Amino acid sequence: MENLISLVNNIQRACTALGDHGEESALPTLWDSLPAIAVVGGQSSGKSSVLESIVGKDFLPRGSGIVTRRPLVLQLHKIDEGREYAEFMHLPKKKFTDFAQVRKEIEDETDRETGRSKQISSVPIHLSIFSPNVVNLTLVDLPGLTKVAVEGQPESIVTDIENMVRAYIEKPNCIILAISPANQDLATSDAIKISREVDPKGERTFGVLTKIDLMDKGTNAVDILEGKSYKLQFPWIGVVNRSQADINKNVDMIAARNREREYFANTPEYKHLVNRMGSEHLAKMMSKHLEQVIKSRIPGIQSLISKTITELEMELSRLGKPIAADTGGKLYAIMEICRVFDQNYKEHLDGMRPGGEKI
Ligand code: GDP
Ligand code: NA
Ligand code: MG
Repeated sequence: MENLISLVNNIQRACTALGDHGEESALPTLWDSLPAIAVVGGQSSGKSSVLESIVGKDFLPRGSGIVTRRPLVLQLHKIDEGREYAEFMHLPKKKFTDFAQVRKEIEDETDRETGRSKQISSVPIHLSIFSPNVVNLTLVDLPGLTKVAVEGQPESIVTDIENMVRAYIEKPNCIILAISPANQDLATSDAIKISREVDPKGERTFGVLTKIDLMDKGTNAVDILEGKSYKLQFPWIGVVNRSQADINKNVDMIAARNREREYFANTPEYKHLVNRMGSEHLAKMMSKHLEQVIKSRIPGIQSLISKTITELEMELSRLGKPIAADTGGKLYAIMEICRVFDQNYKEHLDGMRPGGEKI
């Protein structure tokens, strides 16, 4: 069976590619029903660093202040072999192999929408990364929560960002990756505050603790990591990302991951937690979880897909002969993807016991 996450990825891509045309059909509902992982947290809490270490690449704009000013929908596709590359939805014919160029394009595309001001926009940028070194995942990077507007920004920016983040994470299908820095009091964490609002029982929130290496001497994160400070249904995950000094020195991802692994293995307080710490573990766990969620939602997704196929067929016959090649092509493409999903879903069902357990 084709990987469920990559199938859902394809449907999400197709939904977006269809753009305005999807509005009249079940596509927007279909998109909303597909689970994705949203990364939330305060400014400089380490969101971009966590995303980069999940991907294993430097490709995100960074710096102080509001760097992420539009949502970035990041789809990771595991390929069997070959050179890794990236593709933007808004530049469908261009393959990026230089990830510094990916970063530049994110910056430029942000400016195109927001006009180089420090404004924010809720119109997402869609980026796909194809690599043998990633796990299949869909992640959404969101602007960092902030407490004050800075020079040149409207006062409303604080609540605008909050509302944008909330719009993503309040959807029941959203899995929340809540990023809190260990060198700040958890009680003041923006990530915890907003995720508690939409998911009070912590049923779809993963707590990620960054900057463990920056804690004051004599303090440690054991209580948080063991879930004693703030309980979530899933275990907390601690990470050690690259510091600003590391980034300035161009410490690469592999070196950073090795160092992170050593950090948890060699710090006496964390030794007993070593198997569930670190970026690699985080990436694997998120992929596994996403796949489980998708499986549990298959019946719902399936009926929406059938509805979408029917609607697309009607749309195609309504458009009749003079159909624009572009539109027609896209409608056929998404129908095809839906059919593949449909087929895989049946195979999936055939392989299941009545209890839902996979044989
Ligand atoms: P974002 O604004 O939430 O996306 O945060 P960034 O990922 O851009 O990180 C902000 C700053 O904190 C950068 O200078 C990072 O190098 C640094 N940083 C992030 N995570 C860690 C960490 O775990 N340890 C250390 N020492 N620095 C970190
Ligand atoms: Na930042
Ligand atoms: Mg960032």
